[in-house]
Amino acid sequence: MPNILVIGSSNTDMVVKTERFPQAGETILGGEFFMFPGGKGANQAVAAARLGGKVTFICKVGQDVFGEQAIEGFKKEGIATNFCLTTKAAASGVALITVNAEGENEIVVASGANNQLTEADLDAAEAAFAAADLLLIQLETPIPTVEYAITKGAQMGKKVILNPAPAQNISQETYQHLFLITPNETEAELLTGIKVEDDATAAQAADALLAKGVQHVILTLGAKGAYYKSATQELHVPAQKVKAIDTTAAGDVFNGALTVALAEGEDWLAAIQFAAKAAAISVTRMGAQASAPLRSDL
Ligand code: RIB
Repeated sequence: MPNILVIGSSNTDMVVKTERFPQAGETILGGEFFMFPGGKGANQAVAAARLGGKVTFICKVGQDVFGEQAIEGFKKEGIATNFCLTTKAAASGVALITVNAEGENEIVVASGANNQLTEADLDAAEAAFAAADLLLIQLETPIPTVEYAITKGAQMGKKVILNPAPAQNISQETYQHLFLITPNETEAELLTGIKVEDDATAAQAADALLAKGVQHVILTLGAKGAYYKSATQELHVPAQKVKAIDTTAAGDVFNGALTVALAEGEDWLAAIQFAAKAAAISVTRMGAQASAPLRSDL
């Protein structure tokens, strides 16, 4: 089994269920409160590990109870945590999440210690880079650190996958080091200026990303499935129909699962179908890491 190196954020999610989202300036009475382990990086690492991936995770948490609980959780999932770092400079990351009756979410992240992950930390994790076959990275840690990780991984001959969430711009040069980029519709629009509404506009956005130097593009389209494009192939994989309870981390589960399937040598169609199935299961369950399926669930 190839090694997957995930680099990214770890948060504690504070979640309130609500019928509808409040408007600006409005207080509403919500429903149940939950506290879940989250953070896009950690969610992707856990999703990959639960599906059989051999995962090492690089992150930074505060020296507090949330950070301790997060790292304990990673260990229980069988994730290698030797490069899960701690800092006194900031508290562990926290995300405030509301989930409405349709299972949609609104999320505000206080990044805290995630913002302290530096290029020097990555250099200190040289052994993890050397052992990795695939790298999986998001945009919830500082952009210079992300760009450094992508460049370093590519220069060491690794396949680097970027899930550009939350949507932010990266340097033109960084795109050229990417094996795969996996934006959703809003992220694709921010990165390309093209509003993705159907297969034609998905193709335009994918072409714009391919023109920047990325080798493969997967656009995740929520209930509409996923769209794949490279220089030689194009696919649209429909989503499975499920009743969504909480869509939080559906994209993270998709990315973690996709990376496992690619690590196992699956072709693009099989890998995307595997990821779509895992993501569909995740939206039928509450929480971020809590919703990631096991291989047997699939
Ligand atoms: O993608 C979902 C995640 O975004 C949540 O777990 C939250 O922590 C934020 O990072």
